[in-house]
Amino acid sequence: METIRRIEIKDLFCEKAKEVIGKDVRVKGWVRTKRGNKSVAFIALNDGSTIKNIQIVADVASFSEDILKQITTGACICAEGVLVESMGKGQSVEIQAKQIEIYGTADVETYPLQKKGHTLEFLREIAHLRPRTNTFGAVLRIRHNMAFAIHKYFNDRGFFYWHSPLITASDCEGAGEMFQVTTLDLDATPKNEQGKTDYTKDFFGQSTFLTVSGQLEGELGATSIGKIYTFGPTFRAENSNTPRHLAEFWMIEPEMAFYDINDNMDLAEDFIKFLVRYALDNCKDDIQFLNDMYDKELISRLEGVLKESFVRLPYTEAIDILSKSGHKFEVPVSWGMDLQSEHERFLVEKHFKRPVILIDWPKEIKSFYMKQNDDGKTVRGMDVLFPQIGEIIGGSEREADYNKLVTRMKELNMNMDRYQWYLDTRRFGSAPHSGFGLGFERLLLFVTGMSNIRDVIPFPRFPKNATF
Ligand code: 4AD
Ligand code: MG
Repeated sequence: METIRRIEIKDLFCEKAKEVIGKDVRVKGWVRTKRGNKSVAFIALNDGSTIKNIQIVADVASFSEDILKQITTGACICAEGVLVESMGKGQSVEIQAKQIEIYGTADVETYPLQKKGHTLEFLREIAHLRPRTNTFGAVLRIRHNMAFAIHKYFNDRGFFYWHSPLITASDCEGAGEMFQVTTLDLDATPKNEQGKTDYTKDFFGQSTFLTVSGQLEGELGATSIGKIYTFGPTFRAENSNTPRHLAEFWMIEPEMAFYDINDNMDLAEDFIKFLVRYALDNCKDDIQFLNDMYDKELISRLEGVLKESFVRLPYTEAIDILSKSGHKFEVPVSWGMDLQSEHERFLVEKHFKRPVILIDWPKEIKSFYMKQNDDGKTVRGMDVLFPQIGEIIGGSEREADYNKLVTRMKELNMNMDRYQWYLDTRRFGSAPHSGFGLGFERLLLFVTGMSNIRDVIPFPRFPKNATF
């Protein structure tokens, strides 16, 4: 059987496959289903390259009973035969098998992914096998395409891919939601004179954490090589068991010198639209599948976002709209509050019916680095709010004034020793600059129409769960 080169199943469904019709082909993959009768077996085979299965038609008389018995859902096989145009509905070509080799069997009694439909909750418990389902194949191929598109977008526009460290001694968001990194023996930590843990004895000579954001180091990139973006994992030890939070998620953080808040909003809007367009153009089959299976409005929602320009609205006006809406919110609305998902979704889905960028937030609920407005109350932050998702992007123009920044950090009781390197950006050649962070999995929620963030990352990390 070693003479014919293997062909990936996706290539059997493209235009060029016509050239191969009538010739012998060889495919490898996992059996999705086998059905048939006494004389013929129909095997649906998938190799992950596409949502589509290739049908393999096997004449029962030409194969040993033993081989046929081993072809069950989940088994891995190699099949060889003539590619022919299919008479059956729903597939353009099929293979008339001449030879089948079994690579690995999958016991019918114990293989969990039998033909019947499975709930997403059940599939989460077997996250090591769920990539073999249609749904997760589709989601994970879209995930790849979005990652690629992100690099393409920035590379084509002269941004540099910048690697912020994952282990850090600073807390970018100041929310204290960091996972500690230590090599100290937790049952017997060395103590200092105050009886507290002596971190000078720890691996890095100080306490360290997994980063919540690559932004602060990203600002060093923007104020030196101009326009950068990070794209990497970030970690938050927030105890939120919601369908929108993960303890380990991926974030894209562009940071640009000489961009003000308006340039920042223009970039955010253009960037998301590019990604949505890219998904519609390049992930057609997978998006169509998710649209048909889970969310009949997915494609129209994606197309809708491309048509509309995003609303740009000061926080104070948003509070006004919410207060006067007559809508009964679970958390009552007042100036100064952080918006809950119900408020965000009201603005986007009910009031404006398109994405909204909220700007000029109360400084108390935003991070120390945001540029302070002249009113003394608000900062030049921006949150991009999306239908179904709520906040998809958080960003701001940065405070470029050394004195204002230091004053704010002191007000917040920050440990100044840990930020000297950061403050040097403002001490030497301080530049106006801006940036934002897009939550990769929140983007994927939007693009795939999935409703739980645990279903758009292969192996989700959340409170009380780190299996796989
Ligand atoms: O709004 P956040 O906290 O902003 C920052 O971290 C800034 N340093 C970004 C910047 O300006 N460079 O987070 C940014 C985005 C959110 O809008 C959301 O999409 C996502 O990251 N995000 C999460 N996604 C999944 N799980 C979580 N726990 C998330 N927390 C934030
Ligand atoms: Mg935020």
